[in-house]
Amino acid sequence: MNSHFEKHILCIGAGYVGGPTMAMIAHKCPQYRVTIVDINPERIALWNSDHLPIYEPGLDEIIHSARGRNLFFSTDIEKGIQESEIIFVSVNTPTKTFGVGAGMAADLQYWEKTARQILKSAKSDKIIVEKSTLPVRTARAMERILFSENNGVHFEVLSNPEFLAEGTAIRDMESPDRVLVGSRQTEKGLKARQQLVDIYANWVPRERILTTDIWSSELSKLVANAFLAQRISSINAIAALCEKTEADVSQVARAVGMDARIGSRFLYASVGFGGSCFKKDILNLVYICRHYGLDEVADYWQSVVNINEYQKEHFVITMLNAMFNTLAGKRICLFGFAFKADTGDTRESPAIYIAQRLMEERAELVITDPEALTNAKADLKLSDGDNVRFVEDPYEAASGSHAIAIITEWRQYRELDYERIFRSMVKPAFVFDGRNIADHRRLFETGFNVYPIGKPALTHL
Ligand SMILES: NC(=O)c1ccc[n+]([C@@H]2O[C@H](COP(=O)([O-])OP(=O)(O)OC[C@H]3O[C@@H](n4cnc5c(N)ncnc54)[C@H](O)[C@@H]3O)[C@@H](O)[C@H]2O)c1
Repeated sequence: MNSHFEKHILCIGAGYVGGPTMAMIAHKCPQYRVTIVDINPERIALWNSDHLPIYEPGLDEIIHSARGRNLFFSTDIEKGIQESEIIFVSVNTPTKTFGVGAGMAADLQYWEKTARQILKSAKSDKIIVEKSTLPVRTARAMERILFSENNGVHFEVLSNPEFLAEGTAIRDMESPDRVLVGSRQTEKGLKARQQLVDIYANWVPRERILTTDIWSSELSKLVANAFLAQRISSINAIAALCEKTEADVSQVARAVGMDARIGSRFLYASVGFGGSCFKKDILNLVYICRHYGLDEVADYWQSVVNINEYQKEHFVITMLNAMFNTLAGKRICLFGFAFKADTGDTRESPAIYIAQRLMEERAELVITDPEALTNAKADLKLSDGDNVRFVEDPYEAASGSHAIAIITEWRQYRELDYERIFRSMVKPAFVFDGRNIADHRRLFETGFNVYPIGKPALTHL
């Protein structure tokens, strides 16, 4: 293709990863042409509109700076493949819901379709970059597919897992802790790896770009998520013990986290982790371990997920016990539905489980969230008889409720006028703080019965 751009980059999959990561490359490297394609035409239309399909602080600005200049969104996958030398693949790799490995293994059907499409459309050599999170040794399967036709085209597969966190994705990509690039240790592999390193070196300091063999790179992504989730389950397990012993989990976390070997981050007790990745990636790790006969190792990582499931149920049981063992007919207001603050993403959000359990207990629900109400409506798949309302304004949402359950740590929920809210609620009024973000003493003095995570409850009863 004739053009003045130095490189032509394609990304297949315009989701939470593909969109922001490629926007960042286009923003930082005006000398490259970056195209993002997807099989979902509605998603592409949204990327080309003023209402981007995902909410991420700072994303609008970088999309606007690059879109139409060197950043393009399209549904023409074939053309995209033909015109690019480097192809990132960031399609979804959810947990399999059927057949062998159902509920555990990664579903690689979207991944494999992409590999076949690349093989069918490519007329010249390509570097294929795994950006999706994949089971270790997937690159081998990709190579097998790509080399199944002897058509003279050479494909080099690299692994470049994405470590961004939703809600801080732009900051994470602008200044990443590290960028990881894995390759085959062959001459062609190392040359391809260098090309990818050169792209990131436009803005990432060279010492933060880590190069490894391809299997270590693939596995590191699963391990990073497993370690992060493990810290959350560890502190949540301790929170349960704190509730029994009148210890305070925040103070324990502080004392423990000041040990430099442990570190203070990611030690916040909560209603449990969510998001599309942690659970799926750990289950995938567990599945791989079982595949290799490492049952003890598999059990160890499985327990991280088990504690997370326990934590969500424990939160519901705390509500039930506190509210005189019946929630039937009581109005409960959920503050937040997104799986974390600063995103509209609700995939695997603890809010889904909690809302469903509260509905089983026949509570009436009012759900508020600044960004996630559309997704919340889709997640709950409500039928006519369900007593659930979605209200944007938190004051209106809380009015007339028996209890508030804080599910997402949105900044605005720290700063609300809880005296006003208290006045509008049914008494005795309860707050269940699933994120420990509210000023518990102050809420108690206002009149609320307050149930934090991993701390003694403050009650007037
Ligand atoms: N979301 C995160 O925070 C995050 C972080 C790091 C890594 N990851 C990993 O990145 C990958 C993508 O995650 P996501 O959150 O962006 O998923 P997503 O579901 O938001 O996006 C995936 C996109 O791929 C498209 N797609 C599927 N099959 C396709 C095909 N054959 N051709 C073209 N497009 C196709 C889908 O339509 C969808 O828009 C996953 O493997 C995930 O584990 C996600």
